[in-house]
Amino acid sequence: MGSKKVTKIGVLTSGGDAPGMNAAIRAVVRTGNYYGLEVFGIMRGYSGMIDDEINLMTSRSVANIIQRGGTILKTARSKEFFEPEGRKLAYNNLTKRGINGLVIIGGDGSFKGAQKFSNEFDIPCIGLPGTIDKDIAGSDFTIGFDTAVNTAIEAIDKIRDTADAHDRLFIVEVMGRDAGYIALHSGIATGAENILIPETETDIEALIASLSEQEKRRKLVNLVVVAEGDKFGATEIASIIKKRLPNADTRVCILGHIQRGGSPSCLDRLIASRMGFHAVECLMNGTHNVMVGILNNQLHYTPLDLAIKAKQKISEDWLRIVKILAS
Ligand code: F6P
Repeated sequence: MGSKKVTKIGVLTSGGDAPGMNAAIRAVVRTGNYYGLEVFGIMRGYSGMIDDEINLMTSRSVANIIQRGGTILKTARSKEFFEPEGRKLAYNNLTKRGINGLVIIGGDGSFKGAQKFSNEFDIPCIGLPGTIDKDIAGSDFTIGFDTAVNTAIEAIDKIRDTADAHDRLFIVEVMGRDAGYIALHSGIATGAENILIPETETDIEALIASLSEQEKRRKLVNLVVVAEGDKFGATEIASIIKKRLPNADTRVCILGHIQRGGSPSCLDRLIASRMGFHAVECLMNGTHNVMVGILNNQLHYTPLDLAIKAKQKISEDWLRIVKILAS
């Protein structure tokens, strides 16, 4: 709990952008203004804090953005902020404006920066989970995941159409450097026969056995959804399959950054608005250095250091469902 009254706050987006970040910025600015706080937008994440790219925002600055993907504040991954000199420069730029509270919208890397900063300087930080990867504990939702997974589903459904027309096996790679949530959810929702994620050990022999068994059953269309963070990755898996199952007409599709863009879904706009609103209330009521999350539809505050350490676990239930429904 902090003691000093927060009067001027800064908001920034950091790490990979995620649809709904704009809705969160809007909520922070408008809630802050409603309570009589000055709100400053910090450009390009921590880089803008160091380079002094900090501008006063008003309710009008965030008009007409709730429906837009990306982030009007832009984003970056700052190496300099992980050096003490970088953080000192950033601190000076905040204090010369009297900014005495921060809202950081980003993923675990962004929270690591916030945690270091608030340990060193007397500036309370509130984190909002903004990442398409959904790899943060303490919240059922992260801003951007729902939109990203729906983008993936739309694309995979289209791939299934052409796979069906040609009786092909498609290996589709979705985003998620360390986390398999996009792969798991989009794979289940599109009826993928196999889903490969970094949280479970990929067993190539088991994959080949499952595909050849399906070949025997004349199941000609096959979708394998692979998370980017899988230890083999889509391209290598496809080349193994081509060698081991030469009769399978195999193609690869890497969805890539289209999953990060686009207009946020209703769910992402709602959670971003709710989290942004409560982030400001946290700064005002002295609940400091936490991540605002939503668990079982209730607001949930996780200390930043815990949000960094703990990852969301993939439930065993989903893994069983994948196996049974793909048969
Ligand atoms: O934001 C998370 C994420 O999209 C990961 O899923 C992906 O591995 C990474 O960002 C890609 O980052 P970049 O846009 O810097 O290549």
